[in-house]
Parts: sequence; C-alpha cells; structure tokens
Amino acid sequence: MMKADLLYEGKAKRVYQAKDKPGQLVLAYKNDATAFNGEKKASFTGKGQLNNDISSLIFPILHDKNIQTHFIERLSETEQLVHQTEIIPLEVVVRNLATGSITKRLGIEERTVFNPPIIELFYKDDALGDPLINDEHALFLSDVTSSELQEIKEKALEINEQLTAVFKEIDVELVDFKLEFGRLASGCIVLADEISPDTCRLWDSTTHEKLDKDVFRQGTGDLLEVYQEIYRRLEAKS
Ligand code: C5P
Repeated sequence: MMKADLLYEGKAKRVYQAKDKPGQLVLAYKNDATAFNGEKKASFTGKGQLNNDISSLIFPILHDKNIQTHFIERLSETEQLVHQTEIIPLEVVVRNLATGSITKRLGIEERTVFNPPIIELFYKDDALGDPLINDEHALFLSDVTSSELQEIKEKALEINEQLTAVFKEIDVELVDFKLEFGRLASGCIVLADEISPDTCRLWDSTTHEKLDKDVFRQGTGDLLEVYQEIYRRLEAKS
C-alpha cells in the first residue's frame, strides 16, 4: 500500500501523501461524475479506472514531447503516483472549436473554428462557481508573476498542439479542454491534475459523436461506453 494520509478530496479524485516518499502524492480516481458545479451527480463503476488509464497514457506522450508534468507512474487500476505541487488556482481552458460556455456567453455559433485557439482563465473556486477572469485578476488572485502567467499560456498552447495531434491519430477532434498547473518544490511550474474525457471535449472526427463528459452533462449517451471508446483507441495506438 503506497498511500498514507488523505490530504484532499475533490469531486473526481482523492489525494494522498505517498507513503515513505516525501514530495510525492497518490491520486486516486473516483467513480463519481459531477456537472454544473456539482448540481448534477452520479456514480459510474469503472469511470475512475478509465480516467486513470487514459491520463496514464497521455502524460507519458507529453513527456516524450518535453512537456513537464506532475505524473510519475500508474500504480493500480485507479491510482497514479505524482510529484507534489502547489496547485495554482486557475483553470486554463483552450478552445479550438466553439461549443459549451463560450457559445452562450458570447453568442458565437457552435463549431466556429478558433484559429489561433482561444485561451480562457477561470478562477478555481467552487463557492464562486469558477468565474471567468482576466489576466489582471489571475495575477491578483494567484501566486504567479506575469512572466509565469505568460509561460502557463505558452505551455497550454504547446500542449494543445501536441494533444490535437495525438487525438487526430485516433480520429478524434480535440474541441476544447481544461488544464491545471502546479508549482514543484523547485519553483518550476508543471502540468498537473488530469487529462481525460472529464476535462476535454472529444468529438469523433467523422461522425462528430461526443466521446466525453458532455454525454453525462446533457444526458445524451452512455458515459462509460464513450470513455471506453477513447481508451480503446488510445491503447490501440500506443
Ligand atoms: O463549460 P466550458 O465550455 O467552459 O468548458 C470548457 C472545457 O473545460 C470543456 O472541455 C470542459 O470539459 C472543461 N472543464 C473542466 N472543468 C471545469 C470546467 C470546464 O474540465 N470545471
């Protein structure tokens, strides 16, 4: 057993101190799905494993492209070992195609292509409902300098390029996604959290079928089935 104390429980994961490994954490993926800031909730047996497996395939691909992340290794069906970071309270969203909140907020037509991609920052605060913020808010609300904020945005765009290519190979369009970054003890900022169908919008390139959490948000499909489809395609390619 590699886990010691439970440090934090979020909506989708539990975070434990790794036993006898200072500076390392165990992330345990839960089966819970939430949407609309926790208003809609359900549990899907096997979801935690699928997200752990999908994230555990994607992080090493980013490492191969020289993108630093907190990921160390997959430990078990639902757990992974990561470097401890201090999470920067920003949700960094990258959008390639218009859908979701931006279409409603700005009246942009569904599927409008964003070239260059649009980056949006949201303040990670459940009580406030994760509001959209600008750069000045981000500098005020989080412990980052303006050059670090610039670095975070550049990393987000680089990750977008790499992930878009990865998903293109499995006939999936990367529509948009959310990233979180964390600061290592060394001060370095690295990609943290997860990359999974919970945090990305993934559409089949040919049929435009939704293969992500929108099937749960909108009640239009079987969450486990579409997550399995993403895992199956990524696995077959790796
Ligand atoms: O809802 P919205 O259109 O702003 O979501 C943009 C992207 O960020 C989507 O891929 C969504 O899955 C992701 N997201 C997330 N966690 C949130 C909010 C959005 O992973 N709390």
